[in-house]
Amino acid sequence: MLLYIHIPFCDSKCGYCAFFSQVNKEDMITPYFQALLKDIKYTLQHFNVKQITSIFVGGGTPNFVDSKHYIEIFRHLLPLCTSDCEITFEMNPNLLSHTWLEEIKNLGANRLSIGVQSFHNDKLQMLERVHTYDDIARAFDIAYNHINNISLDLIYDCKLDTQERMQYELESALKLPINHLSAYSLSIDSHSRFGDRQDHTLQSKESFGIFVRDFLQNNNFKQYEVSNFARVNKCKHNLGYWRGDIYLGVGASSVGRVDLIRYFAPANLEQYIANPTQRKKEYLSLNDLHFESIFMGFRSEIGVEKKLLNQTKLQYVIDDNLCYEYNDRVYANDFFLADSIALYLA
Ligand SMILES: C[S@@+](CC[C@H](N)C(=O)[O-])C[C@H]1O[C@@H](n2cnc3c(N)ncnc32)[C@H](O)[C@@H]1O
Ligand code: SF4
Repeated sequence: MLLYIHIPFCDSKCGYCAFFSQVNKEDMITPYFQALLKDIKYTLQHFNVKQITSIFVGGGTPNFVDSKHYIEIFRHLLPLCTSDCEITFEMNPNLLSHTWLEEIKNLGANRLSIGVQSFHNDKLQMLERVHTYDDIARAFDIAYNHINNISLDLIYDCKLDTQERMQYELESALKLPINHLSAYSLSIDSHSRFGDRQDHTLQSKESFGIFVRDFLQNNNFKQYEVSNFARVNKCKHNLGYWRGDIYLGVGASSVGRVDLIRYFAPANLEQYIANPTQRKKEYLSLNDLHFESIFMGFRSEIGVEKKLLNQTKLQYVIDDNLCYEYNDRVYANDFFLADSIALYLA
């Protein structure tokens, strides 16, 4: 079983971000964690969870919150974790401390995902991040002392990006002690501040996806999903999700899916704290699940069960070298073409 835990607090809101996260809500942190504990206890019991294979603590900014808040939660979770359970914490570079890392490591954390986004101060400013280049080097010095399984997030396709500047971003990333990198093309979501302004000039005119992929692959970081690259240690949590494993979500705005029901927690602090186990349910059909597995499968190395695909059209895409078949599964040759392939074959 995969478990996602959402921590909806940040020290400042980035212009591009549409994830549910709040600023200036420090007074809500203690009640939020009390609610989260109730949610976790209920969820584990309700779904009769016997084993947890991965936990992803995401946000928001999990390291905005004092590590003491995680103690009680992990006291309940750890007895259910498998010996090789992957426990990831997302974090921002400006808020890292030795004490915080030592404490979450003691609770079982064994993987960090650090939101760098860029090594250029002007681009960080454009993205409305609060950290600077100097914070990044300092963050890695601290982090690597405690946990050596580290992933780094970058954002590309911003108006300030050029091939030269992107090369500098990637070279700088690879000088750090990481074994995984997530590189996301900037999306302007309507629920973000950038989306509010409808300012699409913030995106670059040309896409750097292929440049990023080729550079990383030439440096032994294999692309295993559109936005994810690993030297070693692919993210087990994401792989499980793309494979269609059932997953549970706790915390405000979290999403979970068990069999044919998807569960949505409210994206509202007050509502969540008042009723932490409340969920909206979406009932899925087997067709819905198959459709999702086709889309997620082609975007990643998971691939798609051959029998789910239109067999006549499949031969065309194989003949055109867009896909290949192996052991009754079909894989995209180029993950960037996954959506078009999926639409054609679903
Ligand atoms: C929701 S954030 C949480 C992690 C952490 N608070 C941070 O800012 O690094 C997870 C990652 O999603 C990516 N992301 C969020 N919004 C995005 C957007 N609109 N376009 C591209 N990437 C985005 C960023 O790379 C970010 O590191
Ligand atoms: S990108 Fe991260 S730090 Fe920025 S607002 Fe979103 S969750 Fe918070």
